[in-house]
Amino acid sequence: MMERDARLQKILGDLSPETQAIRTGSTRSHEREHSEPLYATSSFVFPNAETMADAFVNDSGLSIYARVDNPTVDAFCQRLAVLEGAEACEATASGMGAILATLMAHCQAGDRIVLSTGVFGATLTLLQKFFVKYGLTVDLVDPTDLDAWQAALSRPARLAYCETPSNPTIAIVDVETVSSLCRANETLCVVDNCFMTPALQTPLALGADLIIHSATKYLDGQGRVLGGAVCGSAALIEPITRFIRSGGVTMSAFNAWVFLKGLETLDLRMRAHSENALSLANWLEEQPQVAQVNYAGLDSHPDRALIARQAKAGGGVLSFTLTTETREAAWAFLDATCLMSLTANLGDVKTTVCHPATSTHGRLEAADRIQMGVHEHLIRIAVGLEALEDLKADCLRGFAAIPH
Ligand SMILES: Cc1ncc(COP(=O)(O)O)c(C=O)c1O
Repeated sequence: MMERDARLQKILGDLSPETQAIRTGSTRSHEREHSEPLYATSSFVFPNAETMADAFVNDSGLSIYARVDNPTVDAFCQRLAVLEGAEACEATASGMGAILATLMAHCQAGDRIVLSTGVFGATLTLLQKFFVKYGLTVDLVDPTDLDAWQAALSRPARLAYCETPSNPTIAIVDVETVSSLCRANETLCVVDNCFMTPALQTPLALGADLIIHSATKYLDGQGRVLGGAVCGSAALIEPITRFIRSGGVTMSAFNAWVFLKGLETLDLRMRAHSENALSLANWLEEQPQVAQVNYAGLDSHPDRALIARQAKAGGGVLSFTLTTETREAAWAFLDATCLMSLTANLGDVKTTVCHPATSTHGRLEAADRIQMGVHEHLIRIAVGLEALEDLKADCLRGFAAIPH
């Protein structure tokens, strides 16, 4: 390590989060590169048999095989851990891989899981269709109903799982209260922080135990690669690491390198996404075709005070219902737009739009969808960084196409 790099390492922990997002995890190789090196290799060589044995048997810390560790992936983990205020972080092949690894590592047959209804469709499917086959029970709670959380967490549960804001209805979970209810019964409190990212919200500081990320979203920021991560204490991450090494849901080095670069601009992007989304949400509230706008930065949000306590800004995702309460109206809106990309991903500098009832949440039972507020006339927009005026014009194309 160069002498000036060593000096930086000593002071890095005292620098601001924006600086740490750019500088943490950089270990320059002997080539003196400026951008972080990408270790595109499936295994690592040893100078002799004794060193190899030491790595395999005594865990000496030398990289062995890319399913087990890779310096580029480690650099991403260090950077994200610092941002989340976590002792440790593990990276996975996708956000769902992070959720799978967390459940596999921390749950067993007979355990009870308390699950917010306001979570990503595949999370519900993973627990309700797969984990229940192996003897776990899943109890659903409304994300905003603290009495329901209290009742559900007054009985033993291994783990409580929520997302805040929720997708796509932007319901807010009171993380401080839910995590204190969890602590009283030794229940792990797991929060999916995908929508806000640590640039806007750090649930560990509010008492949560583990943070889940779909890095695919804002951590990348430009819709290029899939990835996931879990952050928490070293003791809680260790069994997750062991599962990932055996289960193989490992993040690729190339994807980790993309996320490393994404984290460097995360703070700037999240502020810009939030600004654009707030302006669009305010404007949408004034449109005659719109019944209700759900956005975590709006004064009209029912949990405005809670959001102000938990997060620095509202993030990039909003949803709204149309006054014409039909699928036909929602599809007409989508089909008439052309700037916003018709795609289910979010967290991209390109604005994306979708109809959750027939896409992200299309495989759920209709009754479950309705209970979650995913109505036929609900549209989700993940606001990107294009000019606001162009986004408004695209929405106007959509509104004009809605049949009377
Ligand atoms: C909130 C949330 N969590 C988890 C996931 C799953 O992430 P991935 O698609 O990277 O597996 C998604 C995906 O859209 C999501 O929106």
